Amino acid sequence: MPNIPARLRKRPRHLVARIACVLLLTTYGAPAGAQALSATPPMGWNPWNAFRTEVDEAKIVANAQLLVRSGLAEAGYRFVNIDDGWWLRREADGRIRIRTGIFPSAALPDGTTSFRPFVDRLHGMGLKAGIYTDIGRNNCAQHWDRDSPNLPAGEQREREVGTLGYQDADARLFFGEWGFDYAKVDACGIADYGPDSVGVRDGTYRSLSPLIARKAPARSEPAIVEALYARYARAIRTAAPGTLLEICAWGEAEVGNWAGRYAQLWRTSSDIRSNWGSMLANFDSAARRTLFAGPGRWNHPDMLEVGNGDFDVTHPVEARAHLSLWAIIAAPLILSLDLTRASPELIAILGNREVIAIDQDPAGHQGVILSHTAEADILVKPLARLGHKAVALVNRSTRPITLGVDLADLRLSPRGTTIVRDLWSKDVAALRGTRIERRLAPHETALLRIEGQAADPDTVFPDEMPAAIAVIDAGQAMPDRGRNWIPARLGFRPAGEPILRNGRPDTGTLGVASGSRVRITLAKRFRRVEIAPAGSSGTPYTIVADGRVVLRAKADGRSAIRLNTAGVDKLELQAPAGSTADAGFLWSDLRMIRR
Ligand code: GLA
Repeated sequence: MPNIPARLRKRPRHLVARIACVLLLTTYGAPAGAQALSATPPMGWNPWNAFRTEVDEAKIVANAQLLVRSGLAEAGYRFVNIDDGWWLRREADGRIRIRTGIFPSAALPDGTTSFRPFVDRLHGMGLKAGIYTDIGRNNCAQHWDRDSPNLPAGEQREREVGTLGYQDADARLFFGEWGFDYAKVDACGIADYGPDSVGVRDGTYRSLSPLIARKAPARSEPAIVEALYARYARAIRTAAPGTLLEICAWGEAEVGNWAGRYAQLWRTSSDIRSNWGSMLANFDSAARRTLFAGPGRWNHPDMLEVGNGDFDVTHPVEARAHLSLWAIIAAPLILSLDLTRASPELIAILGNREVIAIDQDPAGHQGVILSHTAEADILVKPLARLGHKAVALVNRSTRPITLGVDLADLRLSPRGTTIVRDLWSKDVAALRGTRIERRLAPHETALLRIEGQAADPDTVFPDEMPAAIAVIDAGQAMPDRGRNWIPARLGFRPAGEPILRNGRPDTGTLGVASGSRVRITLAKRFRRVEIAPAGSSGTPYTIVADGRVVLRAKADGRSAIRLNTAGVDKLELQAPAGSTADAGFLWSDLRMIRR
C-alpha cells in the first residue's frame, strides 16, 4: 500500500470525503507520461488581471492577435487561456453551455454551443488555448464576484458548473471535443461554499463542507484535495494526454508537496495584486520551494502583473524587477495585461529574449536563494552550459543599496575569463577581479548572466543541480506551522532558519523535515557522493540506491560519509523520524563527484 498520510485515516466528514478516500487509494502515483510535458515553464497570456469576469471573445482575440503581431508569441508566449466568466450553465444532460453573449463564435447553428471554432482560430494563429474550471461544484466568481454580469445562470443545479461529479465528461468535452491544450483548475468550489457562506445561506448554492480552510492549514484536508486533483488529472490524461494541468489551490492544502505528481504547474500563494508587496510575497512563496521544481513541474507564483498598477509603463524599474524575479525561479510566464493598451516600451520589457532565455533554460533549474533579508535577495540559477549561471541581485527596499557576489559563491573559478552580461542594460564586460557588484536603485533587480568556468568541473553541489533533487515524501506533517513550512530546502531548515556557513545560507546543505524522503537523480553520472548527515534524532537515517538500502545509521553530527555510486541512477535520502517539535534533519556538505 502506498504511503497514506495519517490524516486520511480521519473519519471523513461527508460524502465527498468518502469518495475522495477511495479515489486516492487508486490514483496515488504519478500518471505515466505527466513528467514529459512542459519541459520548460509554460508561457502565455490570461485575461484575469486585466478584465476579471468582464471578459469577452473580442478582447481575448485582440490580445491574441497582438501577441502574434508584437513578436511576443514568437518569443515564447503561446498559451492564450480563458479564465472565469465563460460558463452559462450545466444542462440537464450534464453538458456545459457556454455564455455565447460574450463568446459569440461558440453559438452553433443547431442551437448547441462549442469552443471548437474559438480554439481552432487560436491554433490557426500558431497559439495554444487554455480553459478554466473548478475542482468543486461551483466556481470562484460565484463567491468572490457576486455582482459580475457573467455568473452562471439558471436553477441551483444548473449553476453547478464546477467539475465535481463530471470529471470524465468535462475532460472529454474540453480537451477531446473542444481541443483545449491547458487546464487551469481552481479550488473555490471546495473552499468557499460551507454552510455559513452567504450564497449557501440564501439558497443560491448547495453547501459543500470546505476541504480547504484558507490560511488555516490545520483545518484543511490535503489528502482529500490531492485525491480530487488526482482524479481530474486522470480524466484529462485519458481525454487528451498532452494537456497541461495547472492546480490553482493557492499554496493551500500542502499543494506544493504533492502537485508535481499530477500537474505541470501549481499556484504557491493567494492571488497576486498589482502592488510591490503582493508581488514580493508571491515571489517568496515560490522561491522557497526550489526543490519542488524541475522540467515538467513548476512552482507558480501567479500571473504577471507587468503592465498593471505598480508595474505599469510609468514604473519600468518595477516591471523589469517583476519579470526578472519570475525568470530566476523558472516560474511560468503568464502575462495578464491588456496588450491593446500596452506601450512599445512595455512590450520590449516583456519580450526581452535574454531574460526569457533564463526562465526557459533547458536544464530547468529553479534559482537558489544565496541570501535573503527584508531588504534584499540574491539568487543564482545554474544554466545548462557548464560554468554559466544567472544571478539576480534584488533590491526589495525603497532605498538604493549595493549587492554583490564573489565568484566563489557561484562556484566559479577565478582563473580564466568570466563574462558578465547585464540582461537589462545590455552591458557586457569581462570581469576584473573576483567580485560582481551592482549599485541598485530602489526596487531595482539586476539580472546577470555570468559565463565562467566551473571551479571544479568534477564536483557538483546540490545548488548546481536542484532540478535533479525531488522531495518524494514530505515527512512529518506540520500543518500548524502553516504554508511557510517547507519539507526540504537548500541552506534553510523547513521552518525557515538559515543554515549558516561564513555568515550565509549554506546551499550545499539540505535542511529537511523529519521522516522525509528526498530523491537525487544521479543518472549514473557520479562515481561518488559525499554527505554528512546531522540531526538529534535517536532513530537511524537510511540511504537507498536504486531501491537497495546501502546505509542505515544514526547521525553523530560529525562524520562525513562517502558512498560509492558508480552506475547508480537514483539515490534516496530518508531522514529519521523525529518529534513534532524538532527542527528537522540536515544532509550537510552534500557533493556529487564525477571521477
Ligand atoms: C481565483 C484564482 C484567480 C482567478 C479567479 C477567477 O481567485 O486564483 O487566478 O482565476 O479565481 O475567479
